[in-house]
Amino acid sequence: MRKPIIAGNWKMYKSFDEAVEFVEAVREAVPSEEKVDAVVCAPAIYLPTLVDIATETDLAIGAQNMHFEEEGAFTGEISPAQLASIHVDYVILGHSERRELFNETDEAVNKKVKAALAHGIVPIICCGETLEEREAGNTEAKVSGQIRAALEGFSADEVAHMVLAYEPIWAIGTGKTATADDANQVCGAIRDVVKELYGAETAEAIRIQYGGSVKPENIVELLSKEHIDGALVGGASLQVESYLKLLEAG
Ligand code: G3P
Repeated sequence: MRKPIIAGNWKMYKSFDEAVEFVEAVREAVPSEEKVDAVVCAPAIYLPTLVDIATETDLAIGAQNMHFEEEGAFTGEISPAQLASIHVDYVILGHSERRELFNETDEAVNKKVKAALAHGIVPIICCGETLEEREAGNTEAKVSGQIRAALEGFSADEVAHMVLAYEPIWAIGTGKTATADDANQVCGAIRDVVKELYGAETAEAIRIQYGGSVKPENIVELLSKEHIDGALVGGASLQVESYLKLLEAG
């Protein structure tokens, strides 16, 4: 049995005070980490404070991006070593917004995954198709290509501890969720890719989230599906009440 992982992706929302208030409100209310992994991926400038507030609770704090280089002249970037130095547990990598708006390539995602592992940060690796790709019947080819590129060059044990997130781009922030069966089918296809590359045991162990307009009303059905092990949630992770409801479904 894979433990569910529910991660909020706040994107570029919330003031500092709102972020602190949220984490103070949920840190004691999240379910035990024996039951579900609860994560909040916050804007980078809030991370040290939020990590501090969440210390010794069952709430984990994650980043939304990072550079793959260790250090250097990269104005505006944040390194994996810097994230590790403030004890960030997770990092979202290859989100479609970063791929589409900030030109993040498959190659860069792969380097970032390597860098995250080198610093003990769990990567949440995103993949997903556009509406045009789905309508052309290219969904599985697209996500399989992204996953193959991201997972190149690891050991089976390393891959088993990663988290993958299937986020169809047309479902992000649109209110249109993939049906639970469609989402499950693509997550199953992703698991097959992991099986082909790293074997059945790794494929059984790795957790695959669905993301795209997940909310308290649809998460139970999504999580009931064989290949969906959690959710990566934008909008519905911004309010304390709905975030806690999402976790209860886990
Ligand atoms: O990473 C989560 C995300 O892209 C989905 O956003 O607002 O559709 O839940 P949302």
